[in-house]
Amino acid sequence: MSSEWLRCVVVFLVAVPLVKAAPQPNIVFIMADDYGWHDIGYHGSEIHTPHLDKLSASGVRLERYYIQPICTPSRNQLMTGRYQIHTGMQHSIIWACQPYCVPREAKPLPQYLKGAGYSTHMVGKWHLGMYKKDCLPTRRGFDTYFGYLMGSEDYYSHVHCYYSPDEKKTFCGLDLRDGEEVATEYKGDYSTEVFTQKALSIIDKQDPDKPLFLYLALQAVHFPLQVPDRYLEPYSFINDPKRKCYAGMVSAMDEAVGNVTLALQQKGLWENTVLVFSTDNGGQTLWGGSNWPLRGRKATLWEGGVRGIGFVASPLLKQTGTTCNELIHISDWLPTLVGLAGGTINTTKPLDGFNMWPTISYGVASPRLELLHNIDPLYTNDLPCPGMSYQPLASGDSWANSDFNVSIHAAIRSSNWKLLTGDPGCGKWFPRPGDSGSDWNQTSNDPVKPVKLFDIIKDPEERNDLSDQFPSVVDNLLGRLYQYQKTASPIIYPRDDPRCDPSLQGAWGPWE
Ligand SMILES: *[C@@H]1O[C@H](CO)[C@@H](O)[C@H](O)[C@H]1NC(C)=O
Ligand SMILES: *[C@@H]1O[C@H](CO)[C@@H](O)[C@H](O)[C@H]1NC(C)=O
Ligand SMILES: *[C@@H]1O[C@H](CO)[C@@H](O)[C@H](O)[C@H]1NC(C)=O
Ligand SMILES: *[C@@H]1O[C@H](CO)[C@@H](O)[C@H](O)[C@H]1NC(C)=O
Repeated sequence: MSSEWLRCVVVFLVAVPLVKAAPQPNIVFIMADDYGWHDIGYHGSEIHTPHLDKLSASGVRLERYYIQPICTPSRNQLMTGRYQIHTGMQHSIIWACQPYCVPREAKPLPQYLKGAGYSTHMVGKWHLGMYKKDCLPTRRGFDTYFGYLMGSEDYYSHVHCYYSPDEKKTFCGLDLRDGEEVATEYKGDYSTEVFTQKALSIIDKQDPDKPLFLYLALQAVHFPLQVPDRYLEPYSFINDPKRKCYAGMVSAMDEAVGNVTLALQQKGLWENTVLVFSTDNGGQTLWGGSNWPLRGRKATLWEGGVRGIGFVASPLLKQTGTTCNELIHISDWLPTLVGLAGGTINTTKPLDGFNMWPTISYGVASPRLELLHNIDPLYTNDLPCPGMSYQPLASGDSWANSDFNVSIHAAIRSSNWKLLTGDPGCGKWFPRPGDSGSDWNQTSNDPVKPVKLFDIIKDPEERNDLSDQFPSVVDNLLGRLYQYQKTASPIIYPRDDPRCDPSLQGAWGPWE
């Protein structure tokens, strides 16, 4: 190679930026609440979801996508890129009167994106703490916020009621805010429509020279079961009243996603948008949801609780119309989306998530070889689950003396293996909606043992416990749980503070 040629190249490189930096994509993250595995058209549901089916068919469906089994933890991991054990939030959800929120040192996703130049907006359910102003979405990286701070409420009155076991008292109050102010003028308006309108107005007002981050955390399809009548019309064939109402709520949500997508297109933003759709946890069978044929449901570590609906739609994807069977977890969105935004992750403690863009867009193998579902020493199984029992550890049992205490509610995934310890929660195989119950059958009538091992790829329904056949795999995974447990932060789970009382300030909100 002549030196003349080299010099030329060098001069050229210095003088002209060869590749214009890729424009930062708009990021729209739509979170559904308690949306079950079987409740979307492309999983064979009897519920109609034309917009979700079409949108996902144009993108990448994530079919081995995992979330946490309940609301606060999934949202926490989405926002921090960290496992629950690494923020001290491994136990339960944040109840309305508990004085805590996500620790400040876990820098949240919107703050990264804001730092990268995005305008950041949130609409919908927060559920990451609100006892003091410092915990609110507007103080955690969102330029604007409209929504409710707790986990559930009436879809029309926007009132949340909470029975405090510590105070032995029920508190009720409005939970709806515009920014940090209480929003009183939406009484009677159905939340799925209100939140969609708010999202549309954000899209409409977006400065086209700035990238947009919109986090739309819909109330749908969490209980209470409420929906305007017109959404029930297609479901006269469903007899179970809970399932019928839930189906209507799903239809409203499907329409909401259609409206948001259309607005992005009409505003000319769509060509440069990455849209993620995700549920926060498995469906709640007690309130119309279905995760068939997966075992368990919301609030359990069975697949029905943690394997969720998710997809990405975007003209920026390299491979579209595909299904991704790689292991992806909700903690992966933070590094993935910050990566897309061209931001830098700068934390003292390492993240638990991985950048999945190459996996999602190009189809390369997932960098995630392992997934800690959770370790929660305080877990109690307190929802009804007739016919299914848990057999606590007896002193002579195998693994009674392992380093990791196998009575603890925990689960870990490593390639095809999944190990569960303690009581994972209701482990039924709930029948397919409309079936009389043929799928209720367990493989045996034995109670659930403290240690269970499944080959999830061959046995996604968790029917054949292989712990006796593969003791070395069990040992190995118990060792991994033991290592993880050593890195866990102390559990934050304070008793209720009576100053939460919404009648003192006219609504739920910061009291400190
Ligand atoms: C979607 O848009 C249509 C047409 O504007 C509207 O009638 C409908 O209420 C919207 N749906 C939701 C859920 O916001
Ligand atoms: C990362 O954070 C540390 C401590 O806050 C700071 O000193 C350092 O400059 C930061 N690095 C980058 C690349 O932002
Ligand atoms: C093991 O864990 C269970 C459930 O969290 C707990 O009740 C028990 O005290 C623990 N045992 C030991 C020896 O720490
Ligand atoms: C469930 O059990 C019944 C009675 O024991 C049996 O007839 C049926 O075939 C089983 N169904 C499945 C799906 O295993």
